[in-house]
Order: sequence, then C-alpha cells, then structure tokens
Amino acid sequence: MALDWTRFDTLDALSEALAERILGRLQAAIDARGRASLLVSGGSTPRPLFKRLSQTPFDWAHVQIALVDERWVTEDHPRANTRFLHETLLKGEAAAAEFIPMLRKAGDVFEVAGEVDGAYQALAFPFDVVLLGLGPDGHTASLFPGARGLEDAFSAPMDRLVMPIEAVPSDVTGDEVQRLTLTPTAIAEADWPVLMISGAEKAAIAEQAAMGDSSPFGRVVQLLDRPLSVYWAP
Ligand code: 6PG
Repeated sequence: MALDWTRFDTLDALSEALAERILGRLQAAIDARGRASLLVSGGSTPRPLFKRLSQTPFDWAHVQIALVDERWVTEDHPRANTRFLHETLLKGEAAAAEFIPMLRKAGDVFEVAGEVDGAYQALAFPFDVVLLGLGPDGHTASLFPGARGLEDAFSAPMDRLVMPIEAVPSDVTGDEVQRLTLTPTAIAEADWPVLMISGAEKAAIAEQAAMGDSSPFGRVVQLLDRPLSVYWAP
C-alpha cells in the first residue's frame, strides 16, 4: 500500500495541523461511542505535538491514552516513554485523560506481556488514532528488524494487542533491548494510523518501505487496506 503524504515547512506547522486533525478524530469517536483512544509513540519527533495537545482545551476526560511501544525499564528511567509522556502529553489540559500504563513493576517482559495485553483490552478498540514513529533501521513501534518476538508479533491473533520484543542491540536500541509493542494488526486495524516523521532520511526510508521492502515498517504498511497517512516536515 502506498503512503499519503502531507508535507509542511516546519515541525511546528506540522504539529499544529496534526494536533487539530487528531482532536477532530477523537471528537468524532466521542460523538459516536462516548469515548476515544489515542495511542502514541515516543521518540523526539512528537515532542512539539504533545506539547500542543496538552495545552489544548478538549473533552480529555473521555479520552484514553496509551503507548504504542515502551522499553522494559522503570517508569522513572531517562529513556522510558512513560516518563516522556508524563513530561509532555499527560499534563495541563490533557491531564484529565485516562492513561493506561504499559509498564509493570517487575518480571521478564516475555512473561508479563500477557498481563499488559489484558490491561490494553480496556481501551476503546479499534483504536481511534495510532501515532507511529520510524527509526533509521526501519523499525516502527517496537518492531525491530531481526528481533526476538518479531514474527510472533506479526502472527499474533486478531484480539491480541500487546506483544514482547527483544531487539538485537544496536546504536538505535541503546542498552534497552527488551520492549513491548502494539501488534501490527492492532496498528493496521486502527481508525487512523498516522506516521509523524521529520527529515530527508526518514522520508527516504518511508518511500523505500512503501515500495514493498521487508523492513518491519514496510510490512506494517503492507497490512493496511488503505494508504498510510504520513505527516512530514524537514
Ligand atoms: C522509542 C520510540 C521510537 C521512535 C523512533 C523515531 O521508543 O524510542 O517510540 O520507536 O518512534 O525511533 O524516533 P525519533 O522521533 O526520535 O526519530
């Protein structure tokens, strides 16, 4: 499947437009079924988007927020996406949203993933908005190339939302190779999956994937029954 590009001159302009579009989708979901689900990725790119969302008055009390992916670390770890979310999105106006945590206190990620999946079953499904990022190695969510658990994630049953991953260590993963990820199916089933990327390198990786490469991101794109929305800025 192809990509549906919306290009901006700056990351700020992108963030403003994407925040508006996301809130529009969440409002439509609240109108239709009384609540909405927003699944978000970590990484550096969404920071200005999260800041905008957190400052925008909205019916946040009817929004459930959860992560697309997380490192298997403690919540206060400097690279925990949970911590990043608390610092950027789950504050101000958006503090009224319900946050469904991905992290658990202890255990092996391959043993506790089922428990996290159980917690995610409380989210309004199909997810209304799933915000994806893209790594230089072609990963999206925690779907890292060659990872232990990758094929299980791609072949997980339809009703499974969260799977464990152990990435091959690289410059991209850093030391935290154990992760949790949304399943490719849960991403593909979303009402609006959207990729937010910045820079020429990411644009080229996305284009390559859309032509049918075997990267995890490319495989996710191929699962969609429509073009994936891509919001891009230099
Ligand atoms: C994470 C992120 C990660 C991210 C991409 C892109 O847990 O680190 O969720 O998967 O989306 O690596 O990151 P940047 O936005 O920093 O380029």
